[in-house]
Amino acid sequence: MACNRHFLWTLLAACLFVGTPAQASEPSERVTSLVEEMTTEEKLGQLVQAAGGRSKNLNSKLTPEELDRVRRGEVGSYLHVAGAAPLAELQRVAVEESRLGIPLLFAMDVVHGYQTIFPVPLAMAATWEPEVWRHAARVSAVEATAAGLHWTFAPMVDIARDARWGRIVEGAGPDPFLSARMAEAQVQGYQGTSLADADTLMAATKHFGAYGAALGGRDYGSADLSARTLWEVYLPPFEAAVRAGTGSMMTAFNDVSGAPVTGSEEYVDSILRDQWGWDGLVVSDWNAIAELINHGVASDRATAGALALRAGVDMDMTSGIFGGELKDAIDADPALLADLDRAVAHILTAKERLGLFDNPMAYHDLAREAELLMAPAHRDAAREAAVQSMVLLKNDGSLPLRPQPRERIAVIGALAADPMTQLGSWRAQGKAEDVVTLLDGIRQGVPDGVDVRYAKGADTGDIEPGDVREAVRLAKRSDHVVLVVGEDYDLSGEARSRSSVELPAAQRNLADAILATGKPVTVLLVTGRPVAVPELADKADAILLTWMLGVEAGPALADVLFGEVSPGGKLPVSFPRATGQLPFTYDKLPSGRPAEPNLERDTNRYIDLPITPLYPFGHGLSYSLFDYGDVVMSAPSVGADGVVTVSVPVTNTGSQAADEVVQLYLRDPVSRVSRPVQQLRGFQRITLQPGETQTVAFDVQPAQMAVWYPDGWLIEAGEIEVMVGSSSTDIRGRASFDVVSTSTSVQSAASIPTGVRVSER
Ligand code: NOJ
Repeated sequence: MACNRHFLWTLLAACLFVGTPAQASEPSERVTSLVEEMTTEEKLGQLVQAAGGRSKNLNSKLTPEELDRVRRGEVGSYLHVAGAAPLAELQRVAVEESRLGIPLLFAMDVVHGYQTIFPVPLAMAATWEPEVWRHAARVSAVEATAAGLHWTFAPMVDIARDARWGRIVEGAGPDPFLSARMAEAQVQGYQGTSLADADTLMAATKHFGAYGAALGGRDYGSADLSARTLWEVYLPPFEAAVRAGTGSMMTAFNDVSGAPVTGSEEYVDSILRDQWGWDGLVVSDWNAIAELINHGVASDRATAGALALRAGVDMDMTSGIFGGELKDAIDADPALLADLDRAVAHILTAKERLGLFDNPMAYHDLAREAELLMAPAHRDAAREAAVQSMVLLKNDGSLPLRPQPRERIAVIGALAADPMTQLGSWRAQGKAEDVVTLLDGIRQGVPDGVDVRYAKGADTGDIEPGDVREAVRLAKRSDHVVLVVGEDYDLSGEARSRSSVELPAAQRNLADAILATGKPVTVLLVTGRPVAVPELADKADAILLTWMLGVEAGPALADVLFGEVSPGGKLPVSFPRATGQLPFTYDKLPSGRPAEPNLERDTNRYIDLPITPLYPFGHGLSYSLFDYGDVVMSAPSVGADGVVTVSVPVTNTGSQAADEVVQLYLRDPVSRVSRPVQQLRGFQRITLQPGETQTVAFDVQPAQMAVWYPDGWLIEAGEIEVMVGSSSTDIRGRASFDVVSTSTSVQSAASIPTGVRVSER
């Protein structure tokens, strides 16, 4: 195991997290005196983040003229740059040839790996193991900092409840509690124990505050939200990242209930600074300050710049306004000078925390870069993450595959042989030639004497159905068929929203033809979003959800497909039966007429679809079986500020060592406002040998069920129902406890971590 996921008393004293919010610290003396020394032009220069290249052509804009801008102090940071050597020269110019010698900040989207690419973030969430994410982020930081970078635009923690939104692939899905745990793990992994270490990367948690709520799942669209939904569902992962110490935050492109976040004091300044007491660096998204004009809240660039600066945005990603027209706005309104000083202080403080004033060249050690990129231990970590992220959606017993000598396996589908898709939507410096594809993994992992043949059926990018006869012929001549279908890397990610989450027609056509052969078919589902695949669910013998698995996709697949390791991932998001079911979440409000299967009754449902999703949140099968014992409560009641422990023994009753994710859901059945029918409030992934039992104990605080009201988080007295299970619908045990007093909490309920202990029995 690359990560130690069984630590006895896991998790931090949860009570540490229910206190007063952090107090923003004052800038250091060095920063304060530097700000005093700077001219207005030099201050504005620090606010500028310029593109040093293009995302697919890094460093390409680092021309001699650009170096002159650095000499004049007109740039504070670059993105789309990388490489220890080229960035060393740029940094040298900044510290040796500009008047004040202020170092530059180098940034990149290192989202799921730098060169050693890990599974896409939604797949990482499917591990339900924050340790895996923490370690992956650590590896990413080690590689990226060796290549001269200080700053990553990650983690992406946007809640995504509509699978049409292409960017659902970049985060942990729809659940605020799971997303909060994955957010803090990534921040801790990137930033390590001290940002001043040369192998730590500053995190930019993004895209604050409700980018994933874009209406209809159309990227960049409005989020029209109740304040309760904003606070209870969308903001908790950001709050968890703040409490984990994220060094920076990126504002979203979109508006929340009409207020474009990048220009909104109500969101940026009031929530991040005043309410959460956070003093990190706020960067806009790409050109988002200029886009305030398109939003219709600014008539010109100077006004847009003033709005963003006043709102609390410190750095301007590429619009050019902070380095340009903002000066006119400041001349017209000198009150903005105080906002300017505040923004500069945040940026200089970030540079100071990264150790750049003391050792600006620490990130430019060429030997380190040569040694660390794609180091064998990094590949091991990527393989372990990939193994843990696969989810077995269906299995009639045909998996694991046990092919006999002289048998033939047909691998069908171009996605099997497509390295680019395994790299996902943010591939940073990932390279196709470093990827072991699914097909290569099957070929390498298959027992001796088994014949593996491949037919692509349809090209990955094909939209229209094509000629699949060769693939069908191969399937008919084979003993086992592994059908690899889904969406390629270019169908999810930024600006990749789809109006339908069904498979592209070419993929459906191929699947239909292969399933019609009557051969036993195992489907490998490759995707960055939940897809609606009812026909596969109906006809395939087994479905293994492989997502996009990174550079070690093939070996990881072979481990699971041939039974070396039992799959143990769980869905971080429900898979719908049809696009029309979206948005679908397990944690819905009950309605006065809860959905019923019986169409004779008028209930909260569609008449033309079952009330359930195709595969529910938390679902994932195993090659083994697990027996859950009785749920035991440490006490029948608890005070509002107390802790109650929910324990459950879990036994592996199968014949193979396997992982299970034990899930804890709570419900407040009676409140002043309607509450969700279930809310995830604890989970633990455990490994059990055959016959082994472990007891999982969750320490729950009533504040984790606090309800958001405009005047704060209220812990209400009354009953809380407890559900423990293997998925949100496979509930194996129930209990309840009473909260016997009321109180208030300063922290969003879902951002509070649950203490978990695992003991052997
Ligand atoms: C736009 C994206 O929304 C954001 O996530 C990314 O970090 C920036 N571009 C920089 O590439």
